[in-house]
Amino acid sequence: MDSILVTGNGPLNGQIPIAGAKNACLTLMPATLLSEEPLTLTNAPRLSDIKTMTALLQSLGAEVSSLQDGQVLAMSSHDLTSHTADYEIVRKMRASNLVLGPLLARFGEAIVSLPGGCAIGARPMDLHVEGLEALGAEIELEDGYLHARAPGGLKGAVHEMRFASVGATENIVMAATLAKGTTVLKNAAREPEIVDLVECLRKMGAQISGEGTSTIEIQGVDRLHGATHQVVTDRIELGTYMLAPAICGGEVELLGGRMSLVDSFAEKLEAAGVSVSETSKGLKVARKNGRVRSVDVVTEPFPGFPTDLQAQMMALMCTAEGTSVLEERIFENRFMHAPELVRMGANIEVHGGTATVTGVEQLKGAPVMATDLRASVSLILAGLAAEGETTVSRVYHLDRGYEHVVRKLEGVGAKIERIKGQ
Ligand code: UD1
Repeated sequence: MDSILVTGNGPLNGQIPIAGAKNACLTLMPATLLSEEPLTLTNAPRLSDIKTMTALLQSLGAEVSSLQDGQVLAMSSHDLTSHTADYEIVRKMRASNLVLGPLLARFGEAIVSLPGGCAIGARPMDLHVEGLEALGAEIELEDGYLHARAPGGLKGAVHEMRFASVGATENIVMAATLAKGTTVLKNAAREPEIVDLVECLRKMGAQISGEGTSTIEIQGVDRLHGATHQVVTDRIELGTYMLAPAICGGEVELLGGRMSLVDSFAEKLEAAGVSVSETSKGLKVARKNGRVRSVDVVTEPFPGFPTDLQAQMMALMCTAEGTSVLEERIFENRFMHAPELVRMGANIEVHGGTATVTGVEQLKGAPVMATDLRASVSLILAGLAAEGETTVSRVYHLDRGYEHVVRKLEGVGAKIERIKGQ
């Protein structure tokens, strides 16, 4: 298994290009199932999660071609052969459940494995099921698989979600595009990836309004057609690399970044003493003098502070002056990076969903283990700021969500290399 060796090397300076959003691409790809005509995505990120979704769509009979070094995905669901998402693929990646809504809408039937255990929490699918049932689907759990049926087709309805789940919003919106009549989804998630999905669905002929607010209205249509869509910038990759100059010092421009994608996160960085400004090409982040100040963080659905940046923010707070409290409200078990950071000399106490971090003057390099995608990159950030060498093992987590991480960080002066495993 490969590992990543990082050696603390002082301030970082230069530019980092930000890729298309993994989480947007993972919901845009299943949208191809809604139409017989081709859907082409540009600005796709080159990640193992995208390969997993490709394999899932191909297992359903869709054609998926990866062009231009993986940045263009040309898909066609003209001749689908199956409506079953197998456990062997779904267990690798929870986002596989995003084929449920589209398959059900197009074929009146879908069989999708439950994702099963996940390192950062239970992550059930009850909100997806409730929403699709409101549209008239009958859903049963059989042998670990959700069997969803709507023999007479789906029907528009008014439905209020108990919690603004990102995935459930995506499944319900996609399903409702082909339902009869109007669907009003209340307490919908407002993430930029949902806005991106709706923009793509609209290009495919869907009639939707209200995306980016908590009420989305979908007027069902008989069929959707082909389209070409550019995947939105990855705000989590953006936020992660914004933290690189914040933790090491220096000045880095994040190409393709936009403030509107990371408002609440940028606010916290500025409160910590890091400067963030918009440029013609993206966002510029700089820390020139001294240590950052501690700030408190509570993770919330968008536009609140993203849970997917909590681990990386914790790495920064490990080096801050003072004590900060990080409260995780989205996932029940998302502090697995804390004991690894402690191995690097951090001072962190975790009680339930709250971590109290007292900054230290200097982190120290150590061998550490990545436990999930965002945890793995938080350890790399900590390693960049630490004295000596840090080896991060189990980097397959990293490959799920960060393309060319070594090349991107080397480009701004970091000392980082990938060590090939046996
Ligand atoms: C998406 C993102 C993930 C991010 C998360 C929250 C993708 C591919 N992944 O995940 O990176 O961390 O949003 O911003 O876009 N829940 C239920 N029942 C459900 C569905 C969810 O209880 O039916 C709970 C989950 O267990 C979790 C919380 O709701 O505690 C948030 O989940 P959700 O918003 O659905 O996240 P995902 O779509 O899985």
